[in-house]
Order: sequence, then structure tokens, then C-alpha cells
Amino acid sequence: MENIKKRKASATEGLDRVDGRLKVTGKAKYSAEYNTKGLVYGVLAGSTITSGTIKTIDAKAAENAPGVLAVYTYLNSPKIPGYQDPPTQPKGPFRIFDDNKIYFNGQPVALVVADTFERAQYAATLIKVAYDKASFQTDLKSNISAGVSPRNGKDYVKGQEDAYKTAPVKIEQEYILPTDVHNPMELHTIIANWDGDDKLTVWDKTQGVLGTQRSIAQAFKLDPKNVHVISPFVGGAFGAALRTWQHEIAAVMAAKALKKPVKLVLSRAEMFTAVGYRPYTWQKMGLGATPDGKLVGITHEASGQTSMYEDFTEGTVNISQLMYACPNVNTRYRLVSLNVNTPTPMRGPGEATGAIALECGMDELAYALNMDPIDLRVVNHADTDPQTGKPYSSKFLKDAYQLGADAIGWKNRNRKPASVTENGWLVGYGMGTGMFGAYRGAATVLARLLADGTLDLETAVTDIGPGTGTAMTNIASEVMGVAADKISVKIGDSALPPSPTQGGSSVTSTVGSAVNDACVQLKEKLKELSGTAEGGNLSYAQILQAHNLPQLEVTVTSKSSPEAAKYAMYSWSVHFMKVLVHPTTGVVKVDKAVSVADCGTIVSPKTARSQIIGGTIMGTGMGLMEEAVIDHRYGRLVNNDFANYHVPIQADIPQLEALFVNKPDPYINPMGAKGMGEIATIGVAAALANAVFNATGKRVRDLPITPDKLI
Ligand code: MOS
Repeated sequence: MENIKKRKASATEGLDRVDGRLKVTGKAKYSAEYNTKGLVYGVLAGSTITSGTIKTIDAKAAENAPGVLAVYTYLNSPKIPGYQDPPTQPKGPFRIFDDNKIYFNGQPVALVVADTFERAQYAATLIKVAYDKASFQTDLKSNISAGVSPRNGKDYVKGQEDAYKTAPVKIEQEYILPTDVHNPMELHTIIANWDGDDKLTVWDKTQGVLGTQRSIAQAFKLDPKNVHVISPFVGGAFGAALRTWQHEIAAVMAAKALKKPVKLVLSRAEMFTAVGYRPYTWQKMGLGATPDGKLVGITHEASGQTSMYEDFTEGTVNISQLMYACPNVNTRYRLVSLNVNTPTPMRGPGEATGAIALECGMDELAYALNMDPIDLRVVNHADTDPQTGKPYSSKFLKDAYQLGADAIGWKNRNRKPASVTENGWLVGYGMGTGMFGAYRGAATVLARLLADGTLDLETAVTDIGPGTGTAMTNIASEVMGVAADKISVKIGDSALPPSPTQGGSSVTSTVGSAVNDACVQLKEKLKELSGTAEGGNLSYAQILQAHNLPQLEVTVTSKSSPEAAKYAMYSWSVHFMKVLVHPTTGVVKVDKAVSVADCGTIVSPKTARSQIIGGTIMGTGMGLMEEAVIDHRYGRLVNNDFANYHVPIQADIPQLEALFVNKPDPYINPMGAKGMGEIATIGVAAALANAVFNATGKRVRDLPITPDKLI
């Protein structure tokens, strides 16, 4: 009881979400809800084969079905102007309706547009496609030997290659992470409406309105300023909306051809094949140490899957180059092209996968050394960046280990596996570390003070869920001394001052800095106007009124300083798990989870907590449940729905604790705040696997750890 009270108190500290009420009352408008006048509806039809070519398409019945306005296929679709450019690389993004080739199962082969969604959906079932089938490969595990180095990719070698092999104590193990799918609650959606021959508005689910603007402008050869992208609310994305996908291009094409606004909402099944996923990845980890636990060699290999038409790479092995002090480190990364759609970044892209091999490997090494896994990490703590030798801008990882160990009750852990039970369940503790680059880009913010003393902030950035508007309000309130309820934030529109795509845990750092700098400048201007050092006794509103000003505004661009380049900047996390495993059924229950983040100053406590526990939940899915399964006989997904693709629900998740070191980073930005979106997930799955080993003595190296693997 005492504990719950304490946690609740910390969860209610700070500002509520500024858009929370709008979201829970349904007043927040998402892309699919802009039902503009004359709207028509697009539905895609997908390939039922996995590789080959389209022989014939019979769209007659669909075209004649009630309410159907058009059926587009590669045979009749208007050419996308940007597709006429030669590809910039040997492989390139998938080009919808461009030719008759089939690269993966579910690839769109037709777009039906009708006057209602249901009629479009029905007509799509009437399209008959005949194919010439070709052979295909969809299984990474049986194609690892076909892996190639990505273009320009060199194997990383520091010191001696494969040094772990001759170390006094060593482990060498293989790990599998299957395909995980972002599956945000909100389906990917676009409404495209041409306002003229060379001008359009789109309401789109996107992580970056300016990125979408650029992509559409490029595809349709338009001046970017003629593409207006609106996306004020996004119902989760996790990386799936970082780029512009082909369903968006198809909707824009159809809207132009029909001279009508077209809405296209992907189905849940299409969310598995149209907007990327975390790629199926095989990894091999070799770790060698002296008997007192000093690392002498790290070798990390990974093979990830990509599509036949495009290379997707991520920094899966990079975490092993960066995490620990070790004289000999080498990594190899390979791509295997399969008949699947292209993967895309998913929360902690690369590192979240790599941390499974590194942090499970460290746990296995700790057992081989008969050492505490935290002690092993502290012994090998990197005091400077192992790759560049640069000093860190800030790093309080050891504090994070201590905070987390205390909160989970690490002292209750028995090193001997399968030695503790509670009410008939096996008890285990495990931990895993995460890290991710702390970035800051450039952003422009308009800050406007009105005569009634209220403050408006405007910038193009989207909020995919972490609470960007709330964080901006917190920062502005602090700098200006204006109450949060007097501040309004306008975001998610390409017509607003430019700011970056929401990704790479960089928005609070980047856009928050611009908010900070704009507010500082606005305050300066007010000071000048008031003619006194601290504004005398006049309120901001009184200063404006005294000068007969209806408003005062500044537009400020803010970016990282060259000084920052002298430092290695990373955010750090440590995840602790206490699990219960049922000895006969193999069911794993998370009994308690504690995640500690070292990510500089916390500017928005409530949304920061939500961000961290959201990442813990996603990592729990990776560790225990999530897996998109392909039947390799047909090359087709068998669980592309929420009944069969399992994600954690309330009953799977106990009270989660999010703790923050909360010490400012002196170099990254004026707030001292580093990103936390990715480190929230990186290391969680490893902590779970390590806890399950501690509970059972069984090392499951192919995730997810489903009950069948434990009995
Ligand atoms: Mo994130 S994978 O940068 O949306």
C-alpha cells in the first residue's frame, strides 16, 4: 500500500498532458476524421502470390460494382511523374502500380475507389488476377549464408579480430529476434485533396509533415510549398510513419485523376505489409574476459532481412562498439534479401535488437565468471566513448544501476538459477542496459505574446504520442514564468515554422531548444519595452497595453553549437525485471519492472514517465509475445491481426516504475535534456530473458519467450 501511494505521487507530479482532455473526449481530430466535402474512399487489393509477375487482371466486375468510380492497376494507373526519374541507387523504394512484378505477398496490385468505404472494400474482392509464379525465399534462418555486406558497409575492427576466442573465460551464443510489427493503435491514413492542378492538401498520419511534403512534391513534381500537410494528432507510430509509403502516393494519384478528395485507411492486415516492421534478425555474440571480469574481446555478428527491391540497414551491431570499455571489438553486419516488404526503423532501431545479443551475452558471461551481472557491467564501464575516445557530455549510468537495483530489490536475487519460489512460481531477476545517441537538430519556433498575457507557440513538428506539446508548454512556462494554462501550442502542420520529423528521440532536445530560445528572446524584447531590468512591476500584458501593442512575436531558429561536437552524447537506461515462471505451464508473468533513465534534465515529468513505461511495455512484447509468423510454404503471414499477433495488454503488465537520474547534460541544449524515446525499449527484452534464466535455468535465445519454450 505504502509503495503504491509513493508511485502514484510521483506519477501525478508536474503538468498534465495539454491535449489529454481532447484525446480522451474524442475531440482530437486524427487524419481519418477530416471528412472533407465530396470524399471518396480507396481500398487496396494485394497480391496473393509471393514472387512472380501479373499475367492478367480482370477488373470488369469491380468497375461495374455499385458506387465504384475507378480501379487503378499497373495497366491503367496514371504515371507518377517522379517515377520517370532514373532510380538513384540500384535498388530503390517500391513503386506502386509501376510494372507487373511481384516482390512480396500482399503487395498492392490494385486500388479501388468508390463512393463509400464498404463499396470499395466489396469491389476489391471482385478483382481477378492471374499470375506467373516464381520461386521465393521468406525465411532468414535458412538463408543466412546468402547475406551480403550493405553497400559501403565495412566490418568494424578495433584491436584484434575475434579476440574473445582466446580469452580465459568466454561465451559464444546465437540469438534470434523475429519480425516485430509497430502496430500503433491508429491505422495509417491519408486524405488527399487537390486544390488545383499543381496544389494539394493532405491530412496524413506522419511523423514529419515536412518529410511528407518533400516526398509528395518529389513524386508529383510540385513545388513543396504547394503541398500542404496537416497532421496535428498521431495515434502512435514508433517509426512506421517516418517515411512516405506507397499507399500515400496511390491516394494522391487517385485524387488527382478523379478530381475528388480520396481517403485511404490501411486495414490492420495491411499494417503488416505496407508500413515496415522491425526485421527478423539473427545474431552471434562472442564475449571473452579475464577471470576478474575485464572484457578482452567482443565479436558481434548480425544478419537482418530486407526486401528484394530495397536495402534497409540499421545499427544492430553498433551497440557493441559503443557500450563497454574493451580493447578488441569487431562486428559484422549482413543483409539478406527476401520476398518480403522493406523493414523500417522501429523504436530503438538496431540497438533494441543488438542489445538482446549484447546484454543477454553479458548475463551469460557473468554466469560463466560467477559474478554479479551489475558488477560485470561496472567493471567494464566506459569512461570515455570507446569508438572515438571523446569525453561524454554526461553519463550517470552507475547512478542508474544503483537506483534500479535498490528499487527492484536486487539484493533478493539468488544467483543460482531456479532456486527461489513464491506460491509455487519460480522467481527470477534480470537486468539489461540500453543506450542511444542523444541528438539535437535545427528547429524554428514562433512565440507570440498576446495582450491578454497568453502565449502561443507554433512549429511544424508532429507529436506521435510522447507529449511534445506538453513538453514545449513546460519549457515555455519555465522560461517565461507564464502559467501553463495561458500557453497554447500549435503543431503538426507544414505551414508552420519548420521543425524536424519526430524520430530518433530528438524532438524535445531540438524543438524544445527552439522554444527555449524563442521565449528567451521574447523576454528580452519585453524587457527593452518595459525599460527596466526585470520588467518592473508590470506584467507582460501590461507592458503590451502600455505600448498599445496587440501582440509581440519572435521567430527563432535554434541548432546545436560546434562546441557540442567535442563530446560523445548518449542517453542511457537500465531495465530491471522480476519475473514469475510457472514450473509446469511455462507461463511468464512480469511481477515487477523498474526502468531507470539517465537522459539529462526531465522537462516534463508526467509525459516522461509515460514514455519510459510505454517503452518497457513494448520491450515486454519483444521479450515475451510479439512475432509476425510467415508460413514459408506460401510466403504469407499467418497472424496479421490482433487476435494472433500478441501484444501486452493490461493483464500482462504490473505496476511499472520509471526512475530518472535527472541530472542535466551541460552541453546538449539549454535545458540539459537528452532523448528518452528509444532507451525506454532498448535493453528491456534482454532483462526479461535474463530474469527468465535466473528463474528457470533455461536460456531462451530465440525470442519471444513463449511458454512452449520453457516446458
Ligand atoms: Mo523512431 S524508430 O526514430 O520513430
